[in-house]
Amino acid sequence: MDLRGIDSLGSLEGAVVGVRLDLNTPLTNGAITDDGRIHAALATLNTLAEAGATLVLMSHLGRPQGAPEDQYSLRPVAARLQELWSGTVTLVNQVTGPDVAAAISTARAGDIVLVENLRFDPRETSKDPEERRRFAEELAAPLDCVVSDGFGVVHRAQASVVELVHQKPSAAGLLIEAEVKVLEALRSEPERPYTVVLGGSKVSDKLGVIDALLPVVDRLVIGGGMVFTVLQARGFPTASSLLEPDQIDTVKGYLDRAEQLGVDIVLPSDIVMAESFAADAPSVVLPVDALETGPAGTAALGLDIGPASGEHFAQIISQSRTVFWNGPMGVFEFDAFAAGTRAVASALTSVAGLSVVGGGDSAAAIRRLGFPDDQFGHISTGGGASLEFLEGKSLPGLDVLGW
Ligand code: 3PG
Repeated sequence: MDLRGIDSLGSLEGAVVGVRLDLNTPLTNGAITDDGRIHAALATLNTLAEAGATLVLMSHLGRPQGAPEDQYSLRPVAARLQELWSGTVTLVNQVTGPDVAAAISTARAGDIVLVENLRFDPRETSKDPEERRRFAEELAAPLDCVVSDGFGVVHRAQASVVELVHQKPSAAGLLIEAEVKVLEALRSEPERPYTVVLGGSKVSDKLGVIDALLPVVDRLVIGGGMVFTVLQARGFPTASSLLEPDQIDTVKGYLDRAEQLGVDIVLPSDIVMAESFAADAPSVVLPVDALETGPAGTAALGLDIGPASGEHFAQIISQSRTVFWNGPMGVFEFDAFAAGTRAVASALTSVAGLSVVGGGDSAAAIRRLGFPDDQFGHISTGGGASLEFLEGKSLPGLDVLGW
């Protein structure tokens, strides 16, 4: 089924349009460290402003517990948005209520009114659909229509993602349309060879997607903290590296299934082992069958794939026609342990077919490592959402838009 697009809303001249975005940007000491999600929202905002609408933006940030918390204020987001936007951006200190209505009444076409973090109201994430509906009703009160464009949050059954869309004429924004188009192409007609690269810390977060992808992919390349549970499942000791012991048997089952399906599981042959989890920790590169040795005889933990693995992974990626990558290969936030993630990112830029970076940490990693966005086929703004899409799960925020 097709998503309802902005065109379906008719003329927006003079309309007050509520836009649900995912402006959940990573912050360090109150400063935005990756503004990718803000940039990704601009296409829809420009389209609506050009159509003559006044924009009321809504987003969550982090996971506050249903009450205002200064560290989760959208203030830094509003400031960045104002730098990128020619109209006025006004952050309202409330999520719903009279201050929101007052800000809208003084805004002109093309101006932005951003309401505070939706999760400051407990009804946004309430388990009770009636509470969510009442909150959605309040959010919708000053709006003429709603555009849903927070792709990163479509896997959440929350008031602004689901119930809000029922309150007024509604449509999907351009970001959601673009994300769905690319991810649907991965799901239905990937050009081969199709390689999926998975990293990040927990294998338990990736079991669903591994299960769904095994019948579809040609090669599954695994790195990051999650690889140590896979290495243990293959019988390698991994010293004090990150481990999910309760997942080892499940992973063994997936390794057997991959073999039956003829999927090539590609694991690192060497690991950068560090003495501790620190940016300046002494480290040594060890082959995967010698990880117990550790530097200077100390217990050690793997913080990156080694250089031989980086080279091998890069070769596999660049020979593929379709690549989806989710999760860093190591602790890329520390320069000493960023080489594996850099090798994978760099190889993705050379893919002759479709290369897709799947959200969250991987998107932050490519920007931190200095790769321009336009060197990749698509950078998804949804970490969890893109994985759940590829798993084939039904996503409440897309179902409600007619998907
Ligand atoms: C994300 O960063 O994945 C989205 O913004 C969703 O956030 P959540 O996991 O806190 O619901």
